[in-house]
Amino acid sequence: MDKKLDTIQPIFWRENQLQLLDQRALPQQEDWLNYDDANEVAAAITDMVVRGAPAIGVTAAYGVVLAARKAWQQSAEAWQQAIVDPINALASSRPTAVNLFWAIERMTALYQTLPANESPEATLLAEAKKIHQEDIAANHAMGHLGSALIDADSTVLTHCNAGALATGGFGTALGVIRQGFADGKVKHVYADETRPWLQGSRLTAWELQKDNIPVTIQAEGAAASLMATGELDWIIVGADRITANGDVANKVGTYMLAILAKYHGVKMMVVAPTSTIDWQLQDGKDIPIEQRSAEEVTTIQGQQIAPEGVAASNPAFDVTPANLVDAIVTEAGVILSPSLEAMKQIEPKQ
Ligand code: MRU
Repeated sequence: MDKKLDTIQPIFWRENQLQLLDQRALPQQEDWLNYDDANEVAAAITDMVVRGAPAIGVTAAYGVVLAARKAWQQSAEAWQQAIVDPINALASSRPTAVNLFWAIERMTALYQTLPANESPEATLLAEAKKIHQEDIAANHAMGHLGSALIDADSTVLTHCNAGALATGGFGTALGVIRQGFADGKVKHVYADETRPWLQGSRLTAWELQKDNIPVTIQAEGAAASLMATGELDWIIVGADRITANGDVANKVGTYMLAILAKYHGVKMMVVAPTSTIDWQLQDGKDIPIEQRSAEEVTTIQGQQIAPEGVAASNPAFDVTPANLVDAIVTEAGVILSPSLEAMKQIEPKQ
């Protein structure tokens, strides 16, 4: 991989602290915030300092390290009790991205095996770093698998930000786009601006510009007429949770794109690591969909844009049924025409 196409990383563990690139300030400012308290990390996830399913999971893993450090400082005898509340705060930070719960469960399973009379920090930090590195490696693997599905010189559309910023690094959907660009498969990217947080115009456009990948932003309402031109070959998106039958929760608006894609004969690719698959849920109707505040819709960067007091609905995600998806790309393999049966190809053996 051309290193020039792998320039952004939003999460660092440096000087015994967690450092997060504040995604609320991008692209105008590149501010880094430092964290040494798990409750503050939980607030950072809720407040969108860090966002995107795999990035939330990696951040929560480091949050557990900070919780363990504080619990050990509070009580070397009872740290396994003191760690519970801050971990619960991390788990309550956002409801839809299953990577959050996956990472917390992995860290919890580990700390429960540790001796009560030894500091757990070093062991948990090694595990959090492993989760982080595994995520980056999965993204590179998915980049190659996804790129292989795309014909030369294709035009693609992406929604929200499923890039380096949304992961440990490199990105899921943008990982495929980065690799596809390097392979001569992707020649142009359209990015939906993605109301109300504008992850597309603020974050995806910023990432692609940095890597010199041609990008055009558009209001998401422009997607249907773009597809009608016949110019678009693939829609490539990430996911917050995929159920056992291949239904996909992702940023609100993805379902609309999938329906439009079916009508216009545009192919739909979902790119997500296996940590995004919730094997406990049979289908998408049981996925908890986060409802965020009305102010996110009625204001832009603190500026009121709708009449005072008007009602606003703000579901952060929607669910695309598996039968509207052409391919789910994971690091464990590609599922074409996903279904309960097809998903079994990558289901871990018990
Ligand atoms: O609300 P956000 O910005 O956390 O939503 C992010 C998305 O919907 C992404 O598409 C998804 O998490 C995949 S990120 C690789």
